[in-house]
Amino acid sequence: MSMQEKLEQLQVLRSKVQAGGGDKRIDKQHAAGKKTARERIDYLFDPGTFREIDVFAGDPNKNPGEGVVTGYGLVDGRKVYIYAQDFTVTGGSLGKIHAQKICKVLDLAMRTGAPVIGLNDSGGARIQEGVDALNGYGEIFFRNTIASGVIPQLSVIMGPCAGGAVYSPALMDFIFMVNGTSQMFITGPQVIKAVTGEEVSMEQLGGAMTHNQTSGVAHFMGEDEEHCLDMVKQLLSYLPLNNNEQPPAYEAQEPAVDKEVLLDIVPTQPNMPYDVKKVISAVVDGGEFLEVLPLYAKNAVIGFARMNGQSVGIVANQPDFLAGCLDINASDKISRFVRFCDAFNIPLVTFMDVPGFLPGTAQEFGGIIRHGAKMLYAYSEATVPKITIILRKAYGGAYLAMCSSSLRADMVYAWPTAEIAVMGPEGAVNIIHRNEIANAENPMQERERLVKEYRDNFANPYVASSRGFVDDVIDPRDTRARIIDALQVLSSKRESRPGKKHGNLPV
Ligand code: HXC
Repeated sequence: MSMQEKLEQLQVLRSKVQAGGGDKRIDKQHAAGKKTARERIDYLFDPGTFREIDVFAGDPNKNPGEGVVTGYGLVDGRKVYIYAQDFTVTGGSLGKIHAQKICKVLDLAMRTGAPVIGLNDSGGARIQEGVDALNGYGEIFFRNTIASGVIPQLSVIMGPCAGGAVYSPALMDFIFMVNGTSQMFITGPQVIKAVTGEEVSMEQLGGAMTHNQTSGVAHFMGEDEEHCLDMVKQLLSYLPLNNNEQPPAYEAQEPAVDKEVLLDIVPTQPNMPYDVKKVISAVVDGGEFLEVLPLYAKNAVIGFARMNGQSVGIVANQPDFLAGCLDINASDKISRFVRFCDAFNIPLVTFMDVPGFLPGTAQEFGGIIRHGAKMLYAYSEATVPKITIILRKAYGGAYLAMCSSSLRADMVYAWPTAEIAVMGPEGAVNIIHRNEIANAENPMQERERLVKEYRDNFANPYVASSRGFVDDVIDPRDTRARIIDALQVLSSKRESRPGKKHGNLPV
C-alpha cells in the first residue's frame, strides 16, 4: 500500500471508532436527553485541546473504543485527564480493555499530577466478560484509593451506574449527578423487590435528588448535562492540579454587598435563626460561593470561595436549620470536606454559631460519638491555615469541634455577639442552680435572674479571650479584612505531623 492508501485506511478506522455505536444508538441517547461521550468531552474541554489516547484499543469493528473514550486536554487552560463511558457501545459496559483504558488514564494523571474526571454512563460489568470485568473494577478501585489526596478525582454520573460500579465514584472526591437522567445504586429495583418486597422506582432509589438530598452520596446536582459540566469547570477553578501545588490565584474582587450589612444579619438574641450564607457572601470575593452538598445536612454549610483571589474552603453552622446543631450527617459532611481541603492546600475558614451536638436517642444510637469524633480528628489533623470566626453561640464539644484554638486554629476571631461557654445559659442554670431555683419564692423569676447572671459572666467572648482562646473580638464589618490579613500572614505556614503509616480516622 502507498502512504496515501495507508492514510486512507487510518481515516476509515478512526471514523469507525468515532462513530461509536452508530446513528441509531446515538439518536436513542439524544432522545433520552443525553449527549454522547464525545459531545460531553467537546463541551467540557477548551476547543481543540482534547487528545484521545488508546484510540484503537480493542476491536474497532466490533466494539469501537471498547465503550469508553479516554484522553487529556485543557479546561480553562489547565491540564485535565478524562474517561467518558460511551453508552452507545455495549451500553458503556465495562470489560477488560475498557478497564485498562481507564486505568491508563488514572496512571498518567498520577504520574503527571493532574486531576481526573470520570463521566459515567454504563450498564456496569460487561456480562460476557465475567471475572475479567470484575477484576477491571478492582484495578480501578485500587488506583482511585492510591490517587486519593494526590490528584483531585471528580466523578460525573450521566446515566445508569449500578452494582459495585458505584464504588469508583464513591472513592473519588466529588460526585456530580444530572437530575432526571442519572442513577446510582448497589442493587436495582428488581432485586430489591425480589429480596425485600419493597417497590421503588429507579429514580426514587438512586436518582440525583435521592443522592443529593437523602443519602449524601452525591455532592452536586445539575439540571441538565451542560449545567452539570459547567459546575465541574467551576469546581476545578478552585483546585490545585495536585497536592504539591497551590490552587490557582485569581484577581481579587470586592463582595457584592456593602460590609455594613454584616451588622444586621446575625440577631443578638441567641435563639433567633438567620441564614449564615448571607454572612459568607458578604465577606468572600464577588459574593461567589460554590456550595458543596447544598441539599444534605443543611444544618452545616460547606463550599469553596475566594478571598483576595485565593481559594478557601468555608465551613459554617446554619442557624436556619436545626438551629445549626451538629448531628451525624453534618459531622460526616464537614469532616470529609476538611480533609479534602487539607489534602489540597486549601485554607479553611470556619464560621461558628453552634448550640451543641443534636440531643436524642436517634443520634446516640446512630453513633454521634463516632461521627462527631471525625470532626475533631479532621480539624486536628489539618495543617493548612485555619481561621475561625465565632459569630454567636459556641457551646461545649461543638465549640471545640468547629475548629477551636485547641484543635490548632491559627487565628480565632469573635464577634461581640459571641457566647463561648460549656453550654447555653438555660441548660447551665438548670444544672448548677437547681436547688436555688426550686427553693426560691418565685422560681421563674429566680431562674431568669440566674440566666442573665450566667450570660453576663460567661456567655460572652471575653472569658475565652482572657485565656488566649480568642485572638481578638472584632467589628463584624472588619471580618473580610481580618481574614484576608490572616491568610496573608499564614501563607508561609509550615506545620508537619509525626511520620506514620496513616492515622486511624474514626470511620
Ligand atoms: C453487556 C450490556 C450491559 C452489560 C447493557 N448492555 N448493559 N451489555 N453487559 N452489563 C447492552 C445491552 O445489551 C444493549 O445492547 C445496550 O447495552 C443498551 O442497553 P439497553 O438495555 O437497550 O438500554 P436501556 O434500556 O437504556 O437500559 C439500560 C440498563 C440496562 C438499565 C443499564 O441495560 C441494564 O439493566 N443492564 C444491565 C445492568 C446490570 O445488571 N449490570 C450488571 C451490574 S453488576 P444492544 O446491542 O441491544 O444495543 C456489576 C458488578 C460490578 O456491574 C461489580 C464491581 C465490583
